[in-house]
Amino acid sequence: MDSILVTGNGPLNGQIPIAGAKNACLTLMPATLLSDEPLTLTNAPRLSDIRTMTMLLQSLGAEVSTMAEGQVLALSSHGTVTPHADYDIVRKMRASNLVLGPLLARLGHAVVSLPGGCAIGARPMDIHITALEALGAEIELKDGYLHATTQGGLKGGVHEMRFASVGATENFVMAATLAKGTSVLKNAAREPEIVDLVHCLRKMGAQIEGEGTSEITIQGVDRLGGATHAVVTDRIELGTYMLAPAICGGKVELLGGRRALLSAFCDKLEEAGVEIAETDAGLVVAHKTGRVRAVDVVTEPYPGFPTDLQAQMMALMCTAEGTASLEETIFENRFMHAPELTRMGAQIEVQGGTAKVTGVERLKGARVMATDLRASVSLILAGLAAEGETTVSRVYHLDRGYEQVVRKFAGVGAKVERIKED
Ligand code: UD1
Repeated sequence: MDSILVTGNGPLNGQIPIAGAKNACLTLMPATLLSDEPLTLTNAPRLSDIRTMTMLLQSLGAEVSTMAEGQVLALSSHGTVTPHADYDIVRKMRASNLVLGPLLARLGHAVVSLPGGCAIGARPMDIHITALEALGAEIELKDGYLHATTQGGLKGGVHEMRFASVGATENFVMAATLAKGTSVLKNAAREPEIVDLVHCLRKMGAQIEGEGTSEITIQGVDRLGGATHAVVTDRIELGTYMLAPAICGGKVELLGGRRALLSAFCDKLEEAGVEIAETDAGLVVAHKTGRVRAVDVVTEPYPGFPTDLQAQMMALMCTAEGTASLEETIFENRFMHAPELTRMGAQIEVQGGTAKVTGVERLKGARVMATDLRASVSLILAGLAAEGETTVSRVYHLDRGYEQVVRKFAGVGAKVERIKED
C-alpha cells in the first residue's frame, strides 16, 4: 500500500492549478440518467470517486467514456436504463445515492442500496427519503435496499427539509425536473455545487429558479436534452492548497480560485494573519514565515465555514499562537485526525463536537494514518510544518479527492513524495 512521505521545509512559492469540483462532478454525472441525449462534462477531476460513479452509471446502463486524459467525460443514457444500484458499488461511496432521484424521474421506480456507515458519521438517508416522498414516491427499506415506486411517475410537490442536506437537495432538484407540475424545496442547501448542477440542468432544458438561495422552484418538463458543461472549481481543493503557504510561509497562486467560493474560509485565514488577493487567474495567498494567530471556527452549511476544510484548518491551528476552538456541527465524528496530529506533538483536547487546539512552536514528524479523505490531507499539511519526516499511510483516501496531489505540492517546492510500502 502506498504512503506519502513529507519532509518539513521552508517557504513555498509558485502556482497550483485547481481542478474541477469532485462533489459537483459526482452530482452532474447522474444527471445523464435524466435524458437520452449526450451530456459532456469538461474540467472533470481525475479521481477514484469519479471512477466509482462511472462504474455505477455503467451498471445502470449508461455509457461513460473519458477523453483529454480524464478531464472530459462523455455520458449518454440513450439505451435501456436499469433501476438497480447494487450494494457492491454503492457501499464504496455515499454519493452513489445521487442516482436515486434521477432513476425515479426517468423510470418511475428505483432500487438503490443504502450506502452504509462511513468513518465520519452515521449519515442516514431520511432527508432524501422524505424529500422524494413529497414528489409522490413511496419508499421502503427491504434487505438493505431502498425500494422506491411511484404511481404513474413523480408529481410536483412542496417540501421543507429539516436540515439543508446537500445530497437531498440535489436528488430533489434532479427528480423534480421531470415531475408533472411545479415543485418547491424550502430550506434547500445553497452550496456552489448545487448552483453548478442547476446551471447544467438548465442547459439541458430544465426550468429551475432560486438556486443558491434556500428556496428552489422547479417547473417539471416532459423531457430534457443534452448539454456540455464545465465543472465548477473545487473549493475544497482550493482551500486545502491555500493553507500550504499559510502553514509554511511563502506566496502561492491558486489558479482558477475565486474568493466567492470560500468567503467564510478566506475571512478566517485573514483573521489569522494570512494575506489573500484575487487576481484574474485566481487567488494569491501570502504569508511571511512565522506563526499565524489562533482563530475560532464553527463549521456550517454554505456560506459558512465548510466542514470539508475543518481538518485542514486544524493542521494550521496546531502551530498558531494561542488557543483555537474548532466546533464541528455537520458530522458527529469528524475529529479522527486529532489523535494523529497529537502524535506529531500537537496539543488538542476534544470534547464532544469541539476541539481546543493550543498552538505549539513546531510539530515533529511522525508516522501517522489517514482515516478519511480530508483528514489525510490535513496530515500532509501538518507534515509540511513539522521538523523531520512524516509518513502518512492509507493514501487511497487521498486518491478519492485530490488529483496529482504530490505533483501539486512539489510544484511549489514542498517535499512530498509517494512511496511504496509493504
Ligand atoms: C456533501 C458532500 C460532503 C460534505 C457534505 C456537507 C458530496 C458528494 N459530498 O455530502 O463532502 O461534507 O455535503 O457539506 O457532495 N443527513 C441526515 N439525513 C439525510 C442526509 C444527511 O441526517 O438524509 C445528515 C448527515 O448525516 C450529515 C449532515 O446531514 O450529518 C450533512 O449531510 P449532507 O449535507 O447530506 O451531506 P452529503 O450530501 O452526504
